[in-house]
Amino acid sequence: MNIVCSSKKIANLTQIIFVYKTDAAEVVPGIHLKEFDASANHTLLLHEKTAAKLYVGLGSEASVTELTVRNALGTAVRKLQSVGISEAQWEVGAYKPFLTGAIDAAIVASYEFDCYKPETSRRIPFAQLTLLGKDLETEDVQTAVAQGMIYGDAVNLVRRIGNEPGNVCTPEYIAEQAQALAAMHDLNCEIFKKKELKEKGFEAILAVGGGSVNAPRLITLQYEYDEKAPTVAIVGKAITFDSGGISIKPAATMEEMKWDKMGGVGVLGIMDIVARLKLPVNVVGIICSAENMPGGESYRPGDIIKTYSGKTVEVINTDAEGRMVLCDGLAYAVDKFAPDCVMDMATLTGACCVALGLRRTGVFSTDSKASHKLHTIGERTGDRCWSLPMGEEYLDAMKGHYTDLINSASSRYGSASFAASFLNEFVGQTPHIHLDIAGTGWLLDTEPYLAKGATGAGVRLVAEFLKDYH
Ligand code: BES
Ligand code: MN
Ligand code: ZN
Repeated sequence: MNIVCSSKKIANLTQIIFVYKTDAAEVVPGIHLKEFDASANHTLLLHEKTAAKLYVGLGSEASVTELTVRNALGTAVRKLQSVGISEAQWEVGAYKPFLTGAIDAAIVASYEFDCYKPETSRRIPFAQLTLLGKDLETEDVQTAVAQGMIYGDAVNLVRRIGNEPGNVCTPEYIAEQAQALAAMHDLNCEIFKKKELKEKGFEAILAVGGGSVNAPRLITLQYEYDEKAPTVAIVGKAITFDSGGISIKPAATMEEMKWDKMGGVGVLGIMDIVARLKLPVNVVGIICSAENMPGGESYRPGDIIKTYSGKTVEVINTDAEGRMVLCDGLAYAVDKFAPDCVMDMATLTGACCVALGLRRTGVFSTDSKASHKLHTIGERTGDRCWSLPMGEEYLDAMKGHYTDLINSASSRYGSASFAASFLNEFVGQTPHIHLDIAGTGWLLDTEPYLAKGATGAGVRLVAEFLKDYH
């Protein structure tokens, strides 16, 4: 999407007009409020002789935040696309402080996963948005716009890869995407295939990937800013399809498990943003990718795995595969890079969805300052989250009889916290933040400002977290 600025309104170009609830009758004279009352994300499209006007509701003025503006501009873009309009102008006015978010949202709104549909029924790309206003040529404004584009493009990259099904997006495919990203930004990229994984002792990743013909990969991307700057590692779960393995899942909605890679794919988006913004922090992205399938070489319940860390794990349920691949990734991150903080992002547990619903990511951390910072970012950007507990009170349930740990507790109650506490056993003393995006990684129904499918949840959240990390 092209973003340009203009100090004067352009004749014959569709205009996007934001409307507060109290102003609806005044802005659109003669309008019946049942037709358009300017509720948030409600739209009214009027065709005038020369150009169309799209009114978008913001709801009540008192409750307008960056998020309101993001969603309203996103809604506008999708509405115009749906009627075949691909260019528009929008008066920036009082929304200038929210410009980065607004541009981000416009770009994200314009994307739809329709590359497998015939060309004639695909959504038209939104070609150009003209920002109207005085003083838009300043460096501040230009930077804000550029940042919004970086965020939007990164989130869409994650969604494009994320929506590819398991027969296209394999661990090898993700590794290729990582290599392409690395080449673009001059990042270090290292890929461990089966041979290296065996040599180095990544037995948990190998176990999970054992049942699939699409062999696992451990992918490392490194952005180096400065030796003196802090280092953050971010480990992502990228199960390209989670059938459950031998502990196979029920058939209903199993197709959703192509999105079980969103944590790892999100790491690609985070690295993209970090590199483009040249953030003053060293960042290591580690993607643990495998396909969890039943087969003659699958790992099985009862198997005892010696993980990369040296800790042993008894497999109780092969469907608890996320914590298996992540425990190797986390131990490697800490061992190899000695980061100041290790984060991980994963579609880890159905229990997280039960606890928080589908609109908030679960945050598990012993660092309450970090949790608070993430929460604040989420409220502003819409990449919302909520803290849930982890710690020794949950760990007891994960202790093994024959081994250090088991991969699934006997109780279902507190399953998201069991999983988080299991992961926390593999980071040593390193401060750790676990993000469970099981509920937020994909959207089941299209929103006015967002297509259904992969969302890119956690990408903005973590990138913004890293922006002023010290
Ligand atoms: N990928 C799933 C978690 C999941 C389920 C995400 C539904 C989104 C929607 C994960 O690998 C899994 O199967 N977790 C199990 C763990 C259990 C076996 C301890 C779960 O949550 O049921
Ligand atoms: Mn599973
Ligand atoms: Zn899974």
